[in-house]
Amino acid sequence: MRTYFKPKNKLALLYKMKILVTGGTGYIGSHTVVELFNAGHEVVVIDNFDNSYPEVLENIEKITGKKVDFTNVDIRNKQALTDFLMAQKGIDAVIHFAAFKAVGESVENPLKYYENNVGGTVNLLYAMEAAGIHQIAFSSSCTVYGEANPPVDENTPRPAAQSPYGNTKQICEEVLFDYTKASNLKVVSLRYFNPVGAHDSALIGELPIGIPNNLVPFITQTAIGKREVLTVFGNDYPTPDGTCIRDYIHVVDLAKAHVKAIEFLEMKKYTDAYSVFNLGTGQGSSVLEAIHSFEKVTGVKVNYKIGTRRAGDIAQIYANCDKATNELGWKTERDLDNCMLTSWIWEKHLAGK
Ligand code: NAD
Ligand code: UFG
Repeated sequence: MRTYFKPKNKLALLYKMKILVTGGTGYIGSHTVVELFNAGHEVVVIDNFDNSYPEVLENIEKITGKKVDFTNVDIRNKQALTDFLMAQKGIDAVIHFAAFKAVGESVENPLKYYENNVGGTVNLLYAMEAAGIHQIAFSSSCTVYGEANPPVDENTPRPAAQSPYGNTKQICEEVLFDYTKASNLKVVSLRYFNPVGAHDSALIGELPIGIPNNLVPFITQTAIGKREVLTVFGNDYPTPDGTCIRDYIHVVDLAKAHVKAIEFLEMKKYTDAYSVFNLGTGQGSSVLEAIHSFEKVTGVKVNYKIGTRRAGDIAQIYANCDKATNELGWKTERDLDNCMLTSWIWEKHLAGK
């Protein structure tokens, strides 16, 4: 039986959905679970803790006051996944985060990435079909655009992927698109730009394992003294200050977009069974601007030096997010300063400070 909400406005969804979140204890997944609860929905989470920890579940409960319905399921295990979904009652939609995401590792071990990211997604589609679930939001990436003239919109051509990881995102988009043609499946593919930041509570955030590859955790780890120096990978790019430009989006804004996207499917607002949305801020920031924003909001200096370019980096990318604004009714609420501030509070929390 449906639980109905008090109407917020005439465009809002009027009832509670039951949503399965794969990879729901990971970085973006955990923030999305919080926002789904905040929006009044019921949430079921699966994860295998490959890149996350059980404590995340307790911390989501501390933030929301809601107990998470969690089961340890590996999406590579098709039978276990199917049995799990078949045993569930009333799931309206799936938000699919579970995947591996380390670009370098994907070059060294491509099969691991194709097995989990592509194989796991195919298993999920079989299991959803068996359980009669026909709506999914998929975690894609702006990496599908490669080197393009920013701002990039959803119609920007997608060149051949630069890494096996990037290729898994392209392939999954194709798999999902093709499957909408042969089934009742409705899909939103969400192309994230650079997710950063952490929850205001500092109870959930990104947990980079080992030496971080990404800029923001490297900034915060250097500032706290875990790393000696941050290397800026190149200042000879054709950008105003010579360093690369990216579109850094706060993970809470990103999480809120997932709520909108899944409600968009439920309210049947789509014109095509397969829809794609860019999720960024529309604002490009250089590496030096990111460092200076961090220093400004925290008052802490970052020890950095200019180094050589990192192989595979593109000079600049940022999003045109008009489609998400117009069709999902979503836009970002937080800026780069807030991204840096919440990342710093999270880093201090991890260090016990
Ligand atoms: P994350 O590693 O923090 O979260 C992924 C979660 O999936 C982890 O909790 C992990 O344990 C789980 N998982 C992995 N394989 C699994 C399996 N076989 N079975 C069950 N659970 C499994 O990553 P994230 O940053 O939260 O990314 C979420 C999604 O967004 C991924 O699909 C990623 O590729 C995509 N994405 C991330 C970024 C980014 O910069 N963080 C950018 C673009 C796209
Ligand atoms: N950078 C440095 N020094 C560092 C780390 C990064 O200068 O120590 C620079 C990079 O050269 C790049 C910028 O900071 O110019 C951002 O780098 P990140 O590694 O944080 O992010 P990327 O844009 O390279 O890639 C990230 C994810 C990919 C994902 C992509 C788009 O790592 O998996 O965003 O979502 F595909």
